[in-house]
Amino acid sequence: MKPPVYVAAPVPARVLQELERDFDLLDAPEGAAGLVAIPSVTVDSGLLDRAGAGVRIVANYAVGLDNVDLDAARERDIVVTNTPDVLTRATAEHTLALLLALVRRVAEGDRLLRRREPWRLQPTFMLGHGLEGRMLGIVGPGRIGREVARVAEALGMHTLTTRRGEPLDEVLGADVVSLHCPLTDETRHLIREDTLARMRPDAVLVNTSRGAVVDEAALVQALRDGTIAGAALDVFEDEPHVHPGLLELENVVLTPHIASATHEAREAMGLLCVEALRAVLLEGKRPPNAV
Ligand code: DGY
Repeated sequence: MKPPVYVAAPVPARVLQELERDFDLLDAPEGAAGLVAIPSVTVDSGLLDRAGAGVRIVANYAVGLDNVDLDAARERDIVVTNTPDVLTRATAEHTLALLLALVRRVAEGDRLLRRREPWRLQPTFMLGHGLEGRMLGIVGPGRIGREVARVAEALGMHTLTTRRGEPLDEVLGADVVSLHCPLTDETRHLIREDTLARMRPDAVLVNTSRGAVVDEAALVQALRDGTIAGAALDVFEDEPHVHPGLLELENVVLTPHIASATHEAREAMGLLCVEALRAVLLEGKRPPNAV
């Protein structure tokens, strides 16, 4: 008999094929030995109790683990895994894509054309800013933050990184502040009215970490007031809801939590989940990506 596994969302074909080979896929979490979760699924004692006493692993199809109550899993001797490394490059690329789209007004220009507005090339038309020589301040010294720094340096940017617990002052003074920290009690609303006020009026904020690292209402106010010059956001406080104030601003670029959404990364993330399920449910081993 194959171990029963509940997968909370559709997965790429190759991942599904691998899952079906070794596991009996359920339509609901009840009776599962393994759960595959995604960031929008809260894995708490309620869900674990619903799934029942047979659950031995939660494989989170994400590197971020803020949706999983690790204490509730530990109390039940459930292994929790995530998907590090394989999405680092994709997330770093998307961070730079958002930043370039913002400072070179890509989405704004696209909207202008789609409105079929008249336009003419002239020396002062739709000017943006270059990135060369600018300072990129990175909040979060992990793998993704380091990769963002590497790619940004290739574009001629200078970079500086804040480590956990360090004061944010220097990073907040950068031309670009980019968030790459996990969402924890410590980082919730790390960017709020007073931290935004310490940024430069010509600076921009990029967030590909978790929405709640930023106080979205305070950000909207800061963008309206000119406290900062712009924001590029892939994540939101209350997904899939986006603060209506953000939708009205031209100096904002928005994407729907797709920083790791390349075919390559999402397949690799899924295969890491499959490996973890196999390790725990078929081989009785602790997977290397257990947290
Ligand atoms: C992650 O991995 O944490 C991303 O936010 C979702 O893929």
